Amino acid sequence: MTLDELRKQLVQIELQVSSGVCELDQIDCVRSFESSVLGKQGSIGLLLKNIRNYPPEQRGQVGQIINEAKAKAKAMIDARLDEIQRETLTKESQNTSAVDPTLPGSVESMGSLHPVTMVQLEIERIFERFGFTVEAGPEMEAEYNNFDALNIPADHPARDMQDTFWLNNGKVLRTHTSPVQHRAMKKFGAPLRIIAPGRCFRYETLDASHENTFHQVEGLVIDDEISIPNLIAMSKALLREVMQRDVKLRVRPGFFPFVEPGLEIDMNCQICDGQGCATCKQSGWIEILPAGMVHPNVLVAGGIDPHRYSGFAFGLGLTRLAMMKYGIRDIRVLNSGDLRPIVCPQRLGGPTLMNKTT
Ligand code: PHE
Repeated sequence: MTLDELRKQLVQIELQVSSGVCELDQIDCVRSFESSVLGKQGSIGLLLKNIRNYPPEQRGQVGQIINEAKAKAKAMIDARLDEIQRETLTKESQNTSAVDPTLPGSVESMGSLHPVTMVQLEIERIFERFGFTVEAGPEMEAEYNNFDALNIPADHPARDMQDTFWLNNGKVLRTHTSPVQHRAMKKFGAPLRIIAPGRCFRYETLDASHENTFHQVEGLVIDDEISIPNLIAMSKALLREVMQRDVKLRVRPGFFPFVEPGLEIDMNCQICDGQGCATCKQSGWIEILPAGMVHPNVLVAGGIDPHRYSGFAFGLGLTRLAMMKYGIRDIRVLNSGDLRPIVCPQRLGGPTLMNKTT
């Protein structure tokens, strides 16, 4: 076959391929068509095999011509295979039971951590830097740990301060995280630096600032010569770090049987910046950190010598702090399953949530 004849034949083959491949709509048929053209016994394959019949000086050119035609045929066949695959996927995706793995995933609404969890993790990180250990205690607690070990005996009126869920087995749903103070003293002895974040329960009438289920972070430091200035300095550093701004503190006397003296550390309301609003009951202040010096009876119950050691304890209102940080005005949205919060244009900046009904 002369070079001209070869060229003509290759043009013929290309035409056959281009019209033949369009008629096929099954992958298998295209594959066997492919081997009838490009396979060893195929129309182009045989031409390649016959190169050796040409005189050596022509073989390079012949090879080039055939390989060009081969590449064109291969491209047409591959394009058709691609087309058939896409058509099949489209058909499958129209059938509702089929999954189209080629569609992009929807990642916009992946959700996020709960605001209380976010603040809790942040507080854990801050306290770990201060050298504290993070401890946990059970939500179903012994009456003794929740009350007696904390200097609240059965007949003491202070028990009435916390409306308690009593369980049939004689235990309680812990009303605060303070029982972890006792557990930690027993576990580690002195000196001691722990925080204990966790869920607490009280038999409350629900309103915008009261929930029957809420979170606190207990803190306990026991060492040589611990005093109230240590407590106040730590409170200020902590609240400033969490709120990412300077905060004002107000310290008042407060009564808790397990501390002496007891303090109420308040923070200027972050919702109204101390101007007075419904959240702070027009006072401009939020009770955020009840605290005090650990009562000697509590140290003794925990097996620690009150003549040798002193310490402070606090019970940070974690739920309340999360509300302050994110501008959430109603505590009830935090435990509700309603996933339609509205964004409230707050001066706090960043995403702020509030109940859609407020
Ligand atoms: N446990 C107290 C409460 O929930 C708060 C508190 C903790 C007060 C530690 C003083 C010291 O009301």
